[in-house]
Amino acid sequence: MKRLGVNIDHVATIRNARGEFHPDPIFAAQFVKKSGADSVTIHLREDRRHIKDIDAKKICSLKGLLVNLEVSTNPSMIKNALQIRPNFICIVPEKRKEITTEGGLDLKKNIFKLKKIITKIRKKKIRTSLFINPSISNIKISKSLKADCIEIHTGNFANLVKTKKDYSKEFKKIKDCSILAHNLGIEVHVGHGLDFKATKILMKIKQIQEFNIGHFIIGESIFYGITKVIRNFKKIIRS
Ligand code: PXP
Repeated sequence: MKRLGVNIDHVATIRNARGEFHPDPIFAAQFVKKSGADSVTIHLREDRRHIKDIDAKKICSLKGLLVNLEVSTNPSMIKNALQIRPNFICIVPEKRKEITTEGGLDLKKNIFKLKKIITKIRKKKIRTSLFINPSISNIKISKSLKADCIEIHTGNFANLVKTKKDYSKEFKKIKDCSILAHNLGIEVHVGHGLDFKATKILMKIKQIQEFNIGHFIIGESIFYGITKVIRNFKKIIRS
């Protein structure tokens, strides 16, 4: 079954703007599930700009909720993630000054570090996901690293769709990577910058198992309500 993962980081961003308790990301996690989300994604950033440790702990302890926790390769973040025990740990690159995750991991440069991290995660029986740019060599390295899943960074593709530019090359890259990963037994996730249109186009790639979407869902919810937005995505994301 294909899954819609809803990234609720921005609920915490809004809460933090007031430094108080509302809106509550834990309530948001429960609410998006009730509205039809198949999983929830949260990014515990090193600077804790949105989701905090206590949010991640509480969200991961909710019964029957599939949680994808994004963290950087920083040893203290990996240690935290292993203690928090989500269903998936998605390793992402992180720069302090970036507004959002700007690209995929540099697998070649970090191969030894990632190998150690993945071994630790596997020992805890948590599924590992690597956030990567769509390239065939990244898929091959992910396989050699024994990653359970990859999440393909769809930012470039989504921007081309939004600006009505030719996205065919970028689409082909994502498709070729998805097919290879799937054939190698790696679960394929996609995420970043996705809206209704970009998601609809990516649905042509049968090998994609999970769509992780945040900014557009939260933004669109201001006008139409989160339940309606999630339902509309679920009409697009069908098995
Ligand atoms: N997947 C990953 C790994 C991300 O870092 C993000 C952004 O936090 C998303 C998905 C969601 O991207 P967006 O908010 O642009 O939908």
